[in-house]
Amino acid sequence: MKKSASGFNRIAKEVFAPVYPVIARMAVARSGITEGWALDIGTGPGLLAVALACETRMEVCALDMDPEMVRIAGQNLVTAGGGPGSRICLVNADVHRMPLKEKSISLVVSRGSLFFWDDLTRAFDEIYRVLRTGGAAFVGGGFGDAHLRDEIFDQMRMINPDWDADVARRSSMATPEILRRALEKSGVPDFLVRDDDTGIWVELRKF
Ligand SMILES: C[S@@+](CC[C@H](N)C(=O)[O-])C[C@H]1O[C@@H](n2cnc3c(N)ncnc32)[C@H](O)[C@@H]1O
Repeated sequence: MKKSASGFNRIAKEVFAPVYPVIARMAVARSGITEGWALDIGTGPGLLAVALACETRMEVCALDMDPEMVRIAGQNLVTAGGGPGSRICLVNADVHRMPLKEKSISLVVSRGSLFFWDDLTRAFDEIYRVLRTGGAAFVGGGFGDAHLRDEIFDQMRMINPDWDADVARRSSMATPEILRRALEKSGVPDFLVRDDDTGIWVELRKF
């Protein structure tokens, strides 16, 4: 586990890095939310949480179930220095049982984590529970836009010859059909599943 967490940290910092500000800006632009508490679920090395803190004045809760990932994210926050990093707190927890109050979060983001969740319906119910009225969630996976995705795929194919097969296997865990079915079984009344150049994204809003 230790090895894969540090390996992902290296890839995230050296290859995926340009993706995080693009996704943070997408969530802010689509939701219009720039204040209150944000939550990055399955934050891994914490780079999307940092990007969101840089894009807004929000306090960001960066949550991951893997204690080693949380430790690495903590190191990355120290490296990032004060300012936005000082508005990020780290939480070691599972999306299916988040130690967060009902209606406490204005904006939820999560990239590349839902492919690993055991129970998507329960996770979406839990995300909806913590969302404030007027809040929004962007949960999915992707590489920002078509140009970035193509660049990153080229780099990843050199690092990992099985990259395309790995992506296909992971994507099959959360197809639009699987996500829609999980959401229909949940108590989430309103959702949108997008599958385009930005990746596959579930958008939830609480009215
Ligand atoms: C592929 S990494 C993505 C990390 C980060 N979001 C990024 O894009 O750089 C997936 C992360 O989700 C976390 N994760 C997987 N299942 C989880 C769960 N049930 N609850 C919380 N985090 C989870 C893993 O520990 C891992 O850090």
